Amino acid sequence: MTDIRVVLLDDEADVRTAIAQSLELKGYDVVTCATPTRALDLIAPDFPGILVSDIKMPRMDGLTFLGQVRDMDAELPVILITGHGDVPLAVQAMQAGAQDFIEKPFETARLTEAVARAVTVRRLALENRALRAELESRDRVESTLVGRAPVMVELRHRLRTIAASPADVLLRGETGTGKELAARAIHFLSDRADKPFVAINMAALPETLIESELFGHEAGAFPGAHRARYGKFEHARGGTVFLDEIDALSLPLQAKLLRVIEERSVTRLGSHESVPLDVRFVASSKADLEARVEAGSFRKDLYYRLAVVALDMPPLAARMEDVPRLFQHLVNQAALRHRRAAPAVEPELLKDLAARDWPGNVRELRNAADRFVLGLDVFSRDVPDHAATLPERMERFEKAAIAAELAAQAGNMKATYEALGISRKTLYEKMQRHGLEREQIAPATADRPDV
Ligand SMILES: Nc1ncnc2c1ncn2[C@@H]1O[C@H](COP(=O)(O)OP(=O)(O)OP(=O)(O)O)[C@@H](O)[C@H]1O
Ligand SMILES: [Mg+2]
Repeated sequence: MTDIRVVLLDDEADVRTAIAQSLELKGYDVVTCATPTRALDLIAPDFPGILVSDIKMPRMDGLTFLGQVRDMDAELPVILITGHGDVPLAVQAMQAGAQDFIEKPFETARLTEAVARAVTVRRLALENRALRAELESRDRVESTLVGRAPVMVELRHRLRTIAASPADVLLRGETGTGKELAARAIHFLSDRADKPFVAINMAALPETLIESELFGHEAGAFPGAHRARYGKFEHARGGTVFLDEIDALSLPLQAKLLRVIEERSVTRLGSHESVPLDVRFVASSKADLEARVEAGSFRKDLYYRLAVVALDMPPLAARMEDVPRLFQHLVNQAALRHRRAAPAVEPELLKDLAARDWPGNVRELRNAADRFVLGLDVFSRDVPDHAATLPERMERFEKAAIAAELAAQAGNMKATYEALGISRKTLYEKMQRHGLEREQIAPATADRPDV
């Protein structure tokens, strides 16, 4: 009949049985206790139940008990049963926060009515709490993944749903669209929030190290492995593993990863035993994995395993209406980071920002916000970004170097890859990865010195 339990506390066995029976007849789920300690052991904040207690007990009186319950959860209803004519005590109990009191001897109906009221009060309080918690988490996601464009509203909605499920997730999106931010949001909104979030960038680890980094190794597993070591997966126990840039994994490692994902266990290098692994995997890719599968450089089975729950991070170009709000948000953040007052953002600047291309998406906008706060030219790019990681800075440098050479060679591909000392194939791949387009760069050199 109800999901709210009744904890009944009375030191007399006969009384307990009699009251419990009358409540059970009304369909309540009753737990009886003979001592206050036992009752206190049963309850916790958000306890889905109410308490009915005798006010006079040997070891702890009902009022002290009431105080302890209220310390734990001030909204937990307590109904006290008082002796006949004990009015002053009853008044005291009500003042101390009891939900109700019942004078002995009482009719069953009096008790069941009081219990019904308390149960309703409890259910409402718990529902309100759940609602409030949900609103707070919504605020948190909204203030991290900023944006009011319909694509963003939808994205946050899906993110919350996904976070509440145990599913592994694939985050797809161009560079700087917030994949890592989304991965963290999924972790912190999930019931794994108090466990580790371990981010591993597959592109940043050398192939030779990656296996022992992920899976760990036993002593003597390979030359130099003097001691046994946990891998990153095991470090994430109970939490979330963020497999960043999963497209960078070699085919043999993809196979090993798939096994871990499917079997939920990991085998350290040099060991024959697999240990169970309780983690959620969130993978990210800015490459088109489906195309990689077609081309044979990404395992189909791993792709389909990951893509069951996929989230597409919209590029900034798909939500240009968010640029002003986002810029203001990033300026505020940059001001905090650089310990400076945030300068006022003029409407003119916002208009300029909204009229540009942002191939580097939010990260590029964030760099512009940094420059703005530091009093530098918002649209130039040669600014040290103290917050960027080394791989990020190298990525950016590589992109700028290629763009500059391409511009200097007036868009001539052969001259460009020769000048850079790389193969034609490498140049094409890198341009594609960085979203660089010859047509865009070469003719615009004069009026776009910042590309
Ligand atoms: N919707 C957003 N609201 C506020 N900040 C954002 C948003 N999206 C991204 N950012 C910020 O932009 C920067 C880049 O985001 P993030 O690192 O998550 O991107 P990414 O998709 O992982 O990029 P890459 O593929 O290049 O690694 C971060 O500083 C992040 O905090
Ligand atoms: Mg990233």
